Amino acid sequence: MQELKQIVKPLLTWFEKEKRDLPWRHTSDSYKIWISEIMLQQTRVEAVKVYYERFLKELPTLQDLTNTSEDKLLKLWEGLGYYSRARNLKKCAEQLIQNNQTELPRDYELLKKLPGIGSYAAGSIGSIAYNLKTPAIDGNVLRVMTRIFEDDRDIMREKVRKEYFEEISKIMPDNTRDFTESLMELGALICVPNGEPLCKKCPISFLCQAFIHGTTNKYPNKKKEAKRKIEIKTIIILEYNEKIAIQKRPSTGLLASMYEFYNCENKLSEKQLIEYLKKDRVELKDITALGDTKHIFSHIEWHMTGYLVHCKKINENRFLWVTPEKLENTYSLPTAFHFYAKQIKR
Ligand code: ADE
Repeated sequence: MQELKQIVKPLLTWFEKEKRDLPWRHTSDSYKIWISEIMLQQTRVEAVKVYYERFLKELPTLQDLTNTSEDKLLKLWEGLGYYSRARNLKKCAEQLIQNNQTELPRDYELLKKLPGIGSYAAGSIGSIAYNLKTPAIDGNVLRVMTRIFEDDRDIMREKVRKEYFEEISKIMPDNTRDFTESLMELGALICVPNGEPLCKKCPISFLCQAFIHGTTNKYPNKKKEAKRKIEIKTIIILEYNEKIAIQKRPSTGLLASMYEFYNCENKLSEKQLIEYLKKDRVELKDITALGDTKHIFSHIEWHMTGYLVHCKKINENRFLWVTPEKLENTYSLPTAFHFYAKQIKR
């Protein structure tokens, strides 16, 4: 791939002029760059900005991260999704501190051994924070590369990713940070994932085979993912004495250790709900239907119906009873439940 080297100069020149002003571009602290890269892995830049600033205000150092409780951490992550990312951050910080390390290792292979750090994050942290010639191969970069070469191999294959890692590391200039960021930026602003790429503005279109042959829409080739599994649920918001019942989810699996409203499988009618609650020894005052909604996770969809249930008396002590204010400020309630949580205050 002799000619790939030709992208370096035009890309860096373009990046210098066009780069977005993003909060994590103002630091060279590897802790902060790590946090930003983990957040950015599965979340849009615009959404990450607010979370990034708040997270670092609360937990400015590796030591602060190890000292924080899982509940507090999940609350800081609430709404970002893929919560194992947050738990892995803490695990990783604990592991480093236990081994008397004050920062992330300055080595690609060692980075990859840490919880939650895969090839992408190791490459981005390495090249952005530590000036290592370790490319960050993500969807943006693979889109740019497969268009340059009209490469129709499935980009989900590890072999393809590894090969681009090798080829890009060979052409990495000394300014590894700007180069990594410029490739990501091109993928985000010009060589876009949805809709037509803005090839007229692209600084490297002169060597892009897909641009030259008018085939950009064929790349990248990504195998269709399996259909999501659909789960049908009834969300039951129990209210008693102006407090709401919540419970903690199991410590493994989907939305592990986060809080949720009481709920059950299947879509219950009001009549069925009344029957269902009898087993919970709930004495009802009234029931309000809150409507239906859907939440889409990566591999699962929840199709929900919800009810607000005012209780006259409740003979159950397995719930945690919290005020709506405390629920909002203290407990990590996954976005899936926000459609119903919003209706409590009214
Ligand atoms: N996506 C992943 N990492 C990024 C970064 N550092 N800047 C902008 N977008 C990104």
